[in-house]
Amino acid sequence: MKDKICTAFKDYVSSYDLQDTKIRLKYVHTGRVAANCEQIARSLVLSPEDVFLAWEIGMLHDIGRFEQLRRYDTFIDADSIDHAAFGADLLFQDGLIRRFEADTSRYIMIETAIRCHSLYRLPEGLDERETMFCQIIRDADKIDIFRANYETGMAALYNVTEKELADSAVTPEVYNAFCEGHAVLRSLKKTPIDHLIGHLSLMFELVYPESRLLAVEQGYLEKLFQFSSRNPETQSILDAAEKKYREFAREAVRLHP
Ligand SMILES: [Fe+2]
Repeated sequence: MKDKICTAFKDYVSSYDLQDTKIRLKYVHTGRVAANCEQIARSLVLSPEDVFLAWEIGMLHDIGRFEQLRRYDTFIDADSIDHAAFGADLLFQDGLIRRFEADTSRYIMIETAIRCHSLYRLPEGLDERETMFCQIIRDADKIDIFRANYETGMAALYNVTEKELADSAVTPEVYNAFCEGHAVLRSLKKTPIDHLIGHLSLMFELVYPESRLLAVEQGYLEKLFQFSSRNPETQSILDAAEKKYREFAREAVRLHP
């Protein structure tokens, strides 16, 4: 069953330019997120069917990214479309899900998890099971965002030059959100380095002990904290932020069962 979904996914992506770095990035991201989902689901001792469902959600969660890039040439939702809702619409309104041969009994959970995967906060009214699958994909996605950002480089990812990134100042509201220990609202981010602080702050949102340990063990989060700025104020903020990461890493290891 996994093979069929992987083949259908490869087949879908083959109509886009896999030589394009950004397409390639989302292709690799998808496989990594699905693997993270599976590992988190296993840590929660879910049934084999639910471990598979978590993996399947991982495989489909960013399906909207490819068409978003083709139509708008950007991954920035604010400048284009909400990629999560767009992906869910492609799958469940335009019928793309049929290519993946998912069991129809799983449609509602897959759609809910995809629609909610990049929201700042989960909506009210989800039941316990919906909340769990949403949290699994949200954690799995964040963990691989650390890798993708490190490997791609922030400058390339946000269409800015290395110089703009290294010289830029942190917006005070962005750093406040980091100090308060939660994710940064997109609307607060104004400068290139705000995107880095915003991504680093995602560590505070990881729900499951396995997710926090995975983020530490994969090592990309730590590497992101080592970004060096030419702006002295930004550098002192990054130094203070790295101390917070050290605490986070210690706790992640200590609290993992
Ligand atoms: Fe996404």
